[in-house]
Amino acid sequence: MNILLIGSGGREHALAWKMRQSSLCTQLYIAPGNAGTAIVGENLPVKADDLAGIIHACREKKIDLVVVGPEVPLVAGLRDHLERQPDLGHLLMVGPGQSGARLEGSKDFSKHFMERHNIPTAKARTFTEADLAEGLSYLDHCLLPIVLKADGLAAGKGVIICQTHEEAKSTLKDMLSNHLFGEASARVLVEEFLSGIELSVFVLTDGESYVLLPEAKDYKRIGEMDQGPNTGGMGAVSPVPFADVAFMEKVRSRIIVPTLKGLQAESIPYRGFIFFGLINVNGNPMVIEYNARMGDPETEAVIPRIKSDLVELLVACAKGNLKDSHIEISPETAVTVMMVSGGYPGDYAKGKLISGLSDAPGALLFHAGTRHAAAGILTDGGRVLAATGQGSRIDTARQAAYQALAAISFEQAYFRRDIGVDLLSVEKS
Ligand code: AMP
Ligand code: GLY
Repeated sequence: MNILLIGSGGREHALAWKMRQSSLCTQLYIAPGNAGTAIVGENLPVKADDLAGIIHACREKKIDLVVVGPEVPLVAGLRDHLERQPDLGHLLMVGPGQSGARLEGSKDFSKHFMERHNIPTAKARTFTEADLAEGLSYLDHCLLPIVLKADGLAAGKGVIICQTHEEAKSTLKDMLSNHLFGEASARVLVEEFLSGIELSVFVLTDGESYVLLPEAKDYKRIGEMDQGPNTGGMGAVSPVPFADVAFMEKVRSRIIVPTLKGLQAESIPYRGFIFFGLINVNGNPMVIEYNARMGDPETEAVIPRIKSDLVELLVACAKGNLKDSHIEISPETAVTVMMVSGGYPGDYAKGKLISGLSDAPGALLFHAGTRHAAAGILTDGGRVLAATGQGSRIDTARQAAYQALAAISFEQAYFRRDIGVDLLSVEKS
């Protein structure tokens, strides 16, 4: 079958790399892709948020299956647009429609959804500019730190954790009245702070049945020891040692199953990935957020552990046949380390020549922000490359990832050297 994958990051290179290995995959197109996806498929010059361009590509390339990587086209209603095209009725798609993508697209919606279905999450109240005064006096009664969240999509930047009441008040004003995150902060959630280790759990669901993918831990801060500002993610480890059978059973019964039942009860169809951003609060999983897609860089650690044919699973998802599907997962550990541009997550330069890409054996290299040029492969984003090492333990997988990165360089390249270190002592001997 002809497959169109939407997106251009490390997540998409990992998905494309895995889909290419399937005997079901005839042509693989990536829109717009990067220099890495061009190795395993054909990039199309269509942006991920260009819904008309994607529909045109589906016709022109006779696409059978569309797989959506990032959230923006999902929240914008790509599925709904495709379903309205009479000549594209045969098209299979992995990724929810606009109603399901609200799990990610509106934190106010997802918070109320969790409350309606008794899914454990932090307590929160939502305020708009019209009730700013009420919001400010509500903050006086909140325990510190206080979490403020923009309701809409804010490219991972919409959460601010305030250490004082004064900071919370001025931030709430900035978000609601000064439109700090534009339309995304027209509504703001004031949320209770939860303390614990975070992990990301993923399912592929057809709305009724699901397969559980490997879980992962993401490293969000730019600096080692989790210092400095948040990024899209600087590395990932899968499996997560504390996510043992007992913990994952709680995740299943308290979170995954009630979420799917909740979607059914509210007549929200859902065929695609659900990413549960969880936090382990004294052994009990609570939901920090839902995403309607896979995580990045978690995907670069999760996908290499899947032994089953990914395209078979995606087709079963898109057709609503997942109840007959099984997934086989490697017990090996995968450690992914992101190499980023100097300055990221603030301003950074693009267009730096990357050297050593072919001298990095022993690990998988997934491109994130890269592009081809006459001179070679150039940096083209904040997050540039993900190296995934695999091994029987975290330390061996770490070594493989770091050895690969040692061979690669570009001006002002940076990566965290401590990915997975915090888990070494938790890992069972
Ligand atoms: P989100 O965009 O919702 O994933 O939030 C970004 C990050 O903010 C999360 O990964 C957490 O580290 C942090 N965060 C969000 N909500 C909370 C909360 N209620 N308590 C503690 N940390 C939070
Ligand atoms: N790594 C977190 C995310 O993809 O949102």
